[in-house]
Amino acid sequence: MSTPIDPKKVIDDLVEQIKDTLKIGPRNLVGIDIGFSAVKIVELKKSKKGNFELVRQSFVPLPEGALIEDEIQNQEQIVECVAQAYKRGKFSTPLVCLGLWGSNTVARRLQLAGGTPEEIEDQVIWEAEQYIPFDVEDSSISFHIVGENEGGGVDVVVGAARKDLIDSFKDVIELSGLKPKIVDLLQISLVNVFELAAAEELAAAERSSWVLLDIGAQKTEFLIYKNGMISFAKQINIGGLMITEEIQRQMGVNYKEAEDLKITGDQSGNLPEEIVEIIDSVIESFFSELKKTLDFYVSSTSDEAFSGCYITGGSSQIPGLLEGLEALLGFPVRKLNPFDAISYDESDFSEEDIDQLVHRGVSVIGLAMRELDK
Ligand SMILES: Nc1ncnc2c1ncn2[C@@H]1O[C@H](COP(=O)(O)OP(=O)(O)OP(=O)(O)O)[C@@H](O)[C@H]1O
Ligand SMILES: [Mg+2]
Repeated sequence: MSTPIDPKKVIDDLVEQIKDTLKIGPRNLVGIDIGFSAVKIVELKKSKKGNFELVRQSFVPLPEGALIEDEIQNQEQIVECVAQAYKRGKFSTPLVCLGLWGSNTVARRLQLAGGTPEEIEDQVIWEAEQYIPFDVEDSSISFHIVGENEGGGVDVVVGAARKDLIDSFKDVIELSGLKPKIVDLLQISLVNVFELAAAEELAAAERSSWVLLDIGAQKTEFLIYKNGMISFAKQINIGGLMITEEIQRQMGVNYKEAEDLKITGDQSGNLPEEIVEIIDSVIESFFSELKKTLDFYVSSTSDEAFSGCYITGGSSQIPGLLEGLEALLGFPVRKLNPFDAISYDESDFSEEDIDQLVHRGVSVIGLAMRELDK
């Protein structure tokens, strides 16, 4: 059996399609990413040639602690923010592609013995208990066969999420008056954007590996991308929130004030010395976790053919982070910019909106790239 490798297809199949029994109405979707700091919604338009254009977007900050890790702490507040973000953005469809992440989800590459598609499905299910760190019975699993590997077996990419996690987020979307249609994993949506924005570079260095980092508020997604798929994924529980909380503690200010101090500095726009020290110490523990994770990957796979690292997420803007990372990794580090490959009408969006999307909107843009089956 020789299935040609089609990375886009890998991504497309890693989707749980929620049954749309009537199959009527618009086929495009809005992507919704509910992160610690905000609800983000994006709508894209795809041209006949397959090029994406940003058409609408909306970010609404979430009150502190409404969501902690993947647990909804205050459903009412989140529903209100989703409804508000949706209303403000004037989106053209209520159909939603929702992104999930965290310890109740898994995105993994498996190397299986192979056989017919049915036999491979059996192997995916048979091995599920080994790669899914939660109860297999209570989870949704989808997978895609990538193709034969060098060992004579097949490579498969599997995505799984706990059903109760899916349900808790689906409830929020429905209570906001919207219709959840696709559930995706944020790791996958990040890869989707990476493949689009770095297409030329990927084509020029086929067998290389890339490190992808989404450095958010409460967490950092760490991915290794190799041979057209996610080869390794881990969540590092460090993000910009650690800095904010330390500013709150040391300087006796509230969450909002600490965020402002961190992002815009004092009245004259400078970062006070205490804050610089806090940032440095959080970055230090972040780098040490990152190094450990990368060393683990390299020692367990002997893969050292790194071409580069792409970073995104609000906290990728921390001053000096990119340069520090480059020194740590020893290969080039760049910002992932979705607008290298996605167009927009400059008269419809402010520079601030675009800047915010570049840094904090990569995952939600990846979710919005999805389409419903025609
Ligand atoms: N200019 C900036 N400099 C430093 N940090 C920033 C800047 N702008 C935003 N941040 C930080 O980025 C974080 C928000 O980024 P992002 O929107 O990617 O996170 P999130 O998706 O809400 O969180 P998570 O993915 O962890 O749930 C916050 O911690 C915020 O303080
Ligand atoms: Mg995020």
